[in-house]
Amino acid sequence: MPSDTTSALHFDAVILGAGAAGLFCAAQAGQRGLKVLLIDHAEKVAEKIRISGGGRCNFTNRDLDVRAPHKHYVGQNPQFCRSALSRYTPQDFIALMERHGIPYEEKHKGQLFATTSAEDIIRMLLAECADGGVTRWQPCRVEKVVHAPADAGADTEGTGSYQIHTDRGLVRAPRLVLATGGLSIPKIGATDFGYRLAQQFQLPLIERRAGLVPLTFDGAAWQPYAQLAGLALPVEISTGSKKDRMAFLEDLLFTHRGLSGPAVLQISSYWKDGAPLHINLLPGVDVAQLLASAKLQSRKLVVNELAQHMPTRLAEAWVAQHPELQRPINEASDKALAKLADQITRWEITPTGSEGYKKAEVTLGGIDTKALSQQTMECKAQPDLYAIGEVVDITGWLGGYNFQWAWASAAACAEAM
Ligand code: FDA
Repeated sequence: MPSDTTSALHFDAVILGAGAAGLFCAAQAGQRGLKVLLIDHAEKVAEKIRISGGGRCNFTNRDLDVRAPHKHYVGQNPQFCRSALSRYTPQDFIALMERHGIPYEEKHKGQLFATTSAEDIIRMLLAECADGGVTRWQPCRVEKVVHAPADAGADTEGTGSYQIHTDRGLVRAPRLVLATGGLSIPKIGATDFGYRLAQQFQLPLIERRAGLVPLTFDGAAWQPYAQLAGLALPVEISTGSKKDRMAFLEDLLFTHRGLSGPAVLQISSYWKDGAPLHINLLPGVDVAQLLASAKLQSRKLVVNELAQHMPTRLAEAWVAQHPELQRPINEASDKALAKLADQITRWEITPTGSEGYKKAEVTLGGIDTKALSQQTMECKAQPDLYAIGEVVDITGWLGGYNFQWAWASAAACAEAM
């Protein structure tokens, strides 16, 4: 294909990344009358929607508090997401699902899932794009992006044009949207392209790290718990100092290399390198009182007493670490029982790392929100360049909050373009 700018194809807006945010933004902008080109380097559209929520896509969360939506988001400035999230709410996306006749159901804590398959949501987004007359190039490799100022980009209303050089030819548009997502799951198409492009346009970046990710522990220290792989139980988990403590009441899952499950995925987004986690394995139970009164009434082994309140394998792993507790509970010392209660309710353990981007659901950090308008997602210093979805330094909790951010930031951008 020729690459001189006179033979370029012209669009009103080019959106890079046909994931959740890109598809939704393209559909909305197209339906508002813009001629939109949506480009993705992957063969399949919206791979993350496809694999999300165990194949059923947890597409939003009914519990999102529209008066204080930022409560469920992490970033240097979680307040940034308020404007977009309060203007495009979970109810708006639910209404869209209902217009397309897609069945959905609520699971845990306000999480809404497609009843049949995530494919229903992808089909819906593609139908919305078709309604907006969106052109989609996929797979298509973007080689470089250049911004030509107004005098060099004669076809625009004054701010210049973006020239997108691709393996399908050159495209020009007055508006460019970065919707290339985060770094998690590289094998289905995640790249650092959005961050590199942001750097090209001098947008500040917040350091990236894996979020909503299983945590790992030192091999030797993990030995007593490695045999518990597969075991799950509800816990209270927390991290941070008194000032910035975060806590979640969710299920914990033991794995061969460490801890996972919703409790750990949630806390991983707040965990800082080298900091301990505190886990109460029996939340809501006064374990000290329970063991003290069992001592007065029972002659069962300590392990059997404990196994009445937690999975037997877990009780065994715990008591195995205390020779003085391998006896009937009425023969165990008060001190040893008090120590056991303390350890079970305030288990302190320090991860050595995480499973990284190959297992993470999201990327923390990204384009610094200071560089963007919270109403429109437009870059303050680079006119008509927008960033939406996960590439921005806004990360939601587990439970549909990340897709809701993708829809809401996309809607804010489409409305402004
Ligand atoms: P998204 O990643 O969806 O899209 C980015 C697009 O950009 C991709 O299509 C990619 O191919 C493309 N791209 C990347 N580099 C490119 C390049 N160089 N050139 C062109 N295109 C490029 N969230 C939630 O709310 N509920 C859930 O149930 C789940 N479940 C879940 C499970 C798993 C396993 C993962 C990994 C993630 C989730 N998430 C989730 C998170 C959610 O998937 C994520 O936050 C959104 O997909 C982000 O939407 P974006 O459109 O920003 O990025």
